[in-house]
Amino acid sequence: MKTPIYDFARKYADSDPIRMHMPGHKGVPSLLGVESLDITEIGGADILYDARGIIKESRENASRLFKSGASFYSTEGSSLSIRAMLYLILMHAKSEGKRPLILAARNAHKVFSSASALLDIDIDWILPKSGEGLISCTVEPDRLDLLLSSYKHEKPTAVYLTSPDYLGNIADISGIARVCRSHGVLLAVDNAHGAYLAFLEPSMHPIALGAHVCADSAHKTLPVLTGGGYLHVSKDAPEIFFTHAERAMSTFASTSPSYLILQSLDLANDYLDKNYRKDLSAFTKKVDVLKKRLSETGYLLIGSEPLKLTVSAKSYGYTGSELADILFSHGIICEFSDPDFTVLMMTPESSEESLERLSEILLSIEKRVPIDTAMPSVGTVKRVLSPRDAMLSPACEIPIHKSVGRILACESVGCPPAIPIVICGEEISEDSVRIFEYYGIKTVICTEKN
Ligand SMILES: Cc1ncc(COP(=O)(O)O)c(C=O)c1O
Repeated sequence: MKTPIYDFARKYADSDPIRMHMPGHKGVPSLLGVESLDITEIGGADILYDARGIIKESRENASRLFKSGASFYSTEGSSLSIRAMLYLILMHAKSEGKRPLILAARNAHKVFSSASALLDIDIDWILPKSGEGLISCTVEPDRLDLLLSSYKHEKPTAVYLTSPDYLGNIADISGIARVCRSHGVLLAVDNAHGAYLAFLEPSMHPIALGAHVCADSAHKTLPVLTGGGYLHVSKDAPEIFFTHAERAMSTFASTSPSYLILQSLDLANDYLDKNYRKDLSAFTKKVDVLKKRLSETGYLLIGSEPLKLTVSAKSYGYTGSELADILFSHGIICEFSDPDFTVLMMTPESSEESLERLSEILLSIEKRVPIDTAMPSVGTVKRVLSPRDAMLSPACEIPIHKSVGRILACESVGCPPAIPIVICGEEISEDSVRIFEYYGIKTVICTEKN
């Protein structure tokens, strides 16, 4: 597969031009060493969101690989693609003369709620089931069917899911897509953790399974520089998704996209096209063996995502953070940990030895008496102000123990993995205070007056 962006930048660097343009390093490799390839939108380099040349050619390669109707690059992660998805859903609703309303699973990354607030899109939340905690929110097709049937007048414009979630749970996207289509509702998926799913046999990528649009972080699971991502639009998405996608991305994006990230996305096309499917298949088998060995030793592993290993740590007698600390002391750095879970992410780039070492350390940890404290449930939520009004109100920071009854104005205190406990405009309840305290959050930003 051709790599037109990288080829252009390489040729430009090799021609040793006098760079009377940005960036300020002028291609001189004095700090990082890669400056000569770090260009900007000069003549011939195309324009990221008005692409007609090398970027268009490259992203069409990506679209072929991901079997989408069209794919667009992000140099600002899934965060940018999620904002653009919401903008497109809003445009679609408006073009149909509808009020923009999204039915969304509550475990959405905070960029979803902040962008919805800025765009003034209404959200109806699907709450996690009791015992699911904050990070997961299972939505089965039947449950969704009932929920969508309960709208008597106007249905939501879209259903929004996070799949895979941070713990590695994957939703039944094909079943959910069927339900959405039967109600005439769009399906948008935050697939930040699942770009690689397109290369499994058969594909488990949301676009292959019927989503209309999705956001992928290439950098999370593919060998792409941090910030690299995609917005994928399915072949049967509404026309406005194709005609307005660049506009949607550029509404939120920097006007100085990183060409290092673009080159990384461009080179990834060729990489993914060559041996990646085979390498991925071989690697997932190794991860399966590791998972099996750990389960047999007494570890409770959750989630079905092939490249994620999530330990439900309390059943082994540790908190997730304690397990992460032990691994850290042996030079193994986890993706995420909290009181309940330790999450490790691996890819075919992870060496055989690194898997062996991980296995050796985990197997050497002694099983203890299980910790039986349950994670707190989200409970009921009470919306007092619109998220937009709350987010744009004067606000002040207050200690958690004084926050009951106050209205949240900023989700910046969402615990890792950036899933808000309370959404802007919602009243903080005693239940939410318990959750904040459980995750060690000490202050919140609330509107000045209720
Ligand atoms: C589920 C989920 N969605 C979206 C994002 C945002 O992705 P990015 O960091 O690529 O902007 C993240 C980041 O961790 C995430 O975990």
